[in-house]
Order: sequence, then structure tokens, then C-alpha cells
Amino acid sequence: MTSENTSQPRPICDYEGSQYREEFWGREYREYEDRAERLALAKLLPARGRRLLEIGAGFGRLADLYAGYEQVVLLDYSRTMIQQARERWGHDPRFLFVVGNVYDLPFLAGRFDTVVMVRVIHHVADVAAAFGQIRRVLASEGAFVLEFANKRNLKAILRYALRRQAENPVALPPYEFAPINFNYHPQWMRQQWEAAGLRRDAQLAVSYFRVRWLKKHLPATALARIDSWLQRPGGAYPITPSVMVRLRPTGVTQPFRAEPLFRCLDCDSGLEPAVDGLRCPTCGRSWPQHDGVFDFKG
Ligand SMILES: C[S@@+](CC[C@H](N)C(=O)[O-])C[C@H]1O[C@@H](n2cnc3c(N)ncnc32)[C@H](O)[C@@H]1O
Repeated sequence: MTSENTSQPRPICDYEGSQYREEFWGREYREYEDRAERLALAKLLPARGRRLLEIGAGFGRLADLYAGYEQVVLLDYSRTMIQQARERWGHDPRFLFVVGNVYDLPFLAGRFDTVVMVRVIHHVADVAAAFGQIRRVLASEGAFVLEFANKRNLKAILRYALRRQAENPVALPPYEFAPINFNYHPQWMRQQWEAAGLRRDAQLAVSYFRVRWLKKHLPATALARIDSWLQRPGGAYPITPSVMVRLRPTGVTQPFRAEPLFRCLDCDSGLEPAVDGLRCPTCGRSWPQHDGVFDFKG
């Protein structure tokens, strides 16, 4: 992973060419986190819908949970990640694969009844801008299921008390522990989504047992099951390293509309299908589609 500055001023944590799947999920004892996240996501995700968008979908790890949706759009900034997602899910005609940026989503307003973002916001330096984009593409009554890394977690609280970490885990500002890697205070996060016109209707505390010794000595299935029991009660005041919320748009919202789906990033018009991708009828700009992937990276 490298940090880069694109034509936009915001830095992006680019996974292009990374071995994320093997190096992160292939490691010992990660099965527990995967299982605990799936159990939490299944509780928050509306079971059925017309169209779901996953932002920062990576290699499509969670996409089997979207079986109740008529169409599923997997978007990631990294072309290699989306290529891996396509290898995994390309056999299913419900799936669309898009290379794009959360700061400039290539979709018209109100096109999704569910948006999911898991393990991505910790790479987002401008949370307000990302939430603004997500609120825009979400239809009325839509749901945004978000996972974020919680700086106010039990391990950080103990480490701080024992003077083994300098960052105060109860201070509101985000903690950038490595370049473009942030942990967030739940209260700060709440301020951001409320300012963006989103309200919370459920919150879960996830990944209680992210401790190597426990993961080594106890079966992942048992740990994840206990995690699942604790997720809802712990959601009232999360001290776990991961928090999942379901947010809904407030105020005036766009009713769901299926087509056209894509927008021109230059002039905002709806895009039309063309031989080798999409074309803007207003400004004439073309957006390519290679190997079944719509590419808006530019
Ligand atoms: C830690 S991975 C998580 C992948 C997947 N959500 C999962 O849980 O398995 C973070 C992903 O976010 C993507 N990402 C980072 N910044 C992004 C941005 N600005 N727009 C879209 N995707 C982004 C990365 O390319 C990477 O695939």
C-alpha cells in the first residue's frame, strides 16, 4: 500500500498491486475477525433490496452476504482489487465492478437502497466529504452500513492508563497512527454523520476478542458466536476495536431511481452505454470498460 496524491488534493491509501488478501486475511487467526464481522453485518444489512453498493469492496470478501439484492455494485479505488473481486464474483450477472473513488462517486443521486463500507473509513482523511457522497447516492429510506475503527477501545484505554501509549483514547479528534490510517472516537464519528444528514438506527460493538492468545487457543467459531451475543448490548457504549452502525438519511432525500446509474465526473450528466464503456451525451467524454470493469480512476 502506498500513499499518493491524485489530481484531487485528498490523499488516498492505494492498494494497487497489494497482496491484501493473502497478507492480511491469509494470516493466522484472522478467521475470528472475518466471522465476527459477517455476523454483525448480517444483523444490520436489510435482507433484500434492489441495488446495493459496497465501497472499498477489496476482493469481494463480504459479497456472499448480498444474496437478497437484485443488483450489487462493488467499487474500489484499486484496479487490482476490483479485478480480484471480478474473478470471484464475475460469474454472477447481478454484479457490476467499478474502479472509483469514495470522494467522487460516479453515480447519480438516489441510485442505491443500501450502501456498505467495511474497513475503509480508516483510510479516509476527509470523512465529511465521503459521507456527503454516500448520502447523495442513497435513496430515501435507504441504509448505510458502516464499520469504523474505534480509538476508545479497551486495549487502548489500558495502554494509556499504563503509559504505554501517548494518544488519549477518549480525546475526540481522530488518531492517525500511520499515514492515512485513522482510529476514530464514536462520538466524533457521530458528529460527522449527523452533520452529513444521516442518523443512526442501530450500533454494534464488534471484535471483542482481538487478542492473539485467545484466538490461538479457542476456536474461531466459538469466539465469533460469543462476540455476536455481546454485539448489541455492547453497542450502547462500544469499547471494542471495531464498531458497526446502520445509518439512514434525514431531511429531503431522493426517491430510488434505477436508471441511468452512472454520472459523468466532469459535468454530472447521466452516462449512456457505448461500445467500449460509457459516454456522456452532454460533454462527450468517454469512460472505459475493460474486462467487465467500469473505470473512473482517470
Ligand atoms: C482494508 S481494505 C478493505 C477491503 C474490504 N472492505 C474488506 O473488508 O475486505 C480497504 C480498501 O479500501 C479501498 N480504498 C481506500 N481508499 C479508497 C477510496 N478513496 N475510494 C475507494 N476505495 C478506497 C482500498 O483500495 C482497499 O481495497
